[in-house]
Amino acid sequence: MTQDELKEAVARAALDYVVEGRIVGVGTGSTARKFIESLAGIKDRIAGAVASSEDTRQRLEGHGIRVFDLNEVSDIPVYIDGADEITPHMHMIKGGGGALTREKIVAAVAQSFVCIADASKFVDVLGAFPLPVEVIPMAAAHVSRELVKLGGTPVQRPNFVTDNGNLILDVKGLRITDPEDLETRINQIAGVVTNGLFALRPANVCLLGTPNGVRTVKAS
Ligand code: 5RP
Repeated sequence: MTQDELKEAVARAALDYVVEGRIVGVGTGSTARKFIESLAGIKDRIAGAVASSEDTRQRLEGHGIRVFDLNEVSDIPVYIDGADEITPHMHMIKGGGGALTREKIVAAVAQSFVCIADASKFVDVLGAFPLPVEVIPMAAAHVSRELVKLGGTPVQRPNFVTDNGNLILDVKGLRITDPEDLETRINQIAGVVTNGLFALRPANVCLLGTPNGVRTVKAS
């Protein structure tokens, strides 16, 4: 199976977690795009969606799926999104697509987070994928210096502005053995909007696309 086919398989499997008649939270990225295509097939059975990015909002609306502003919604049974890396503890690095802040906000509201990923994303220790950090533009140099003190090598993502009008620093060289602690520390740096560690709010379940089919993994 190609990586694309693995993504399609997990996107289809995620439909089992969508609650009929309710609003579903929808992530961002190539796997989430596959999910949006699958969701379009059952759009008459959901109330609508909350989008984690402008790209996702446009794609959902393009399929005729009603998109709610998060401020209109108090209860989202499930949020479905991809990840750049995920561990057996369901801790993740996200933000390869730059949508980490809105993803974290929608995930915070959702009762359950279903991560959909191909098997290449499953790792024992986070950090081979550079950690995205969303930063207020005037703070970029200060935040970079602080990230170096934490052992990382930050590089500003070229020609990229987030949906919130901010910059992304991609931090290489981190071997993240305590993701909850690092998530907290980075978020305390003045000028950081949020970072791409999803450890304080991990996934509840991961649907992992493998050549032998979709594997359901829960925190160990
Ligand atoms: C976007 C994300 C994505 O979920 C993550 O980058 C995975 O993307 P893909 O499904 O394309 O591999 O966090 O901000």
